[in-house]
Amino acid sequence: MADRMRILVTQKVPDPAYPLLESVGDVEANREEGVIWSYETLLHRGPGHEYLFCLVTDTIDAHFLETCAAATPRLKLVAIMAVGYNNIDVAAATRLGIAVSNTPGVLSDTTADLAFALLMATARRLPESERFLRAGQYTGWGPLLFCGAEVSSSTLGLIGAGRIGKLVAKRASGFDMRVLYYNTHRLPLEEEKRYNLTYASLEDLLRQSDFVSIHTPYTPVTHHLIDERALSLMKTSAILINTARGPIVDEKALVRALQGGTIAGAGLDVFEQEPAVEPELLTMENVVLLPHIGSASLQTRTRMATMASQNIAAHASGLRPPGILNPEVLTNI
Ligand code: GLV
Repeated sequence: MADRMRILVTQKVPDPAYPLLESVGDVEANREEGVIWSYETLLHRGPGHEYLFCLVTDTIDAHFLETCAAATPRLKLVAIMAVGYNNIDVAAATRLGIAVSNTPGVLSDTTADLAFALLMATARRLPESERFLRAGQYTGWGPLLFCGAEVSSSTLGLIGAGRIGKLVAKRASGFDMRVLYYNTHRLPLEEEKRYNLTYASLEDLLRQSDFVSIHTPYTPVTHHLIDERALSLMKTSAILINTARGPIVDEKALVRALQGGTIAGAGLDVFEQEPAVEPELLTMENVVLLPHIGSASLQTRTRMATMASQNIAAHASGLRPPGILNPEVLTNI
């Protein structure tokens, strides 16, 4: 009888993933909720598995992949339970003949919901006013109490209008917002029409928007796309929202811009050096900070875990994983 496949799961994930993975092979898993393996632990536990089910917190770099490619059994597929995969060296994986898959689509609505919630929370100062109330400072309704930024009929600038950006635009249309977008490729006219999107250069978008929301992947090209200069182009009343990846924004430049009044506020679900946050941000009332929960509804996380498992199951059955990122390595599929 052929040996069973060996699968490693690096963090505790929603339950429905396990039976599916167990139908494919023997599952070794970190089942301690909230425990994130260090790189050293990953390097120790990873080699000797055909399948790796990983998360955005795992560093899957060339050294790790080379170590797993040299082990027996050899690593065949890295399946990340996320849409973003900047923590994986896909080029190295491809060079080593290791497939990589992600879970696009199943989290788009939930992430767009969070981006919009963060925009609303920052604009209308929800966490700040709740802190005030809980501290017993609420002594009565006041004409000037916690006046925030107007959301309805304002201008929203989307940096990136892919799956998630378009769904943010859909939500914005319910608020009668004018929506500008900047993308490397302009969308077909019918899509611009469907989502009520107006194409703009990055500079125009930054100058005209009341809210700038980031929905682009993190790549060498988008590293610090929002830097000191970009922030200086924004309105002094503008609010920056980031639910994509931290290093797209120069976090130190953002701190300076918030301190100096270059922009009015920020809503951040992601940070440059997660889980670390620039300490000054923690002291500012005009920022809303979340612990990377863009896709965090149980239904969505279950869909993501199921899709990551399905990518593994498909590969093990000689089928093309639905979320394959480097199909060129699938020579026999
Ligand atoms: C989460 O950050 C994801 O990329 O899915």
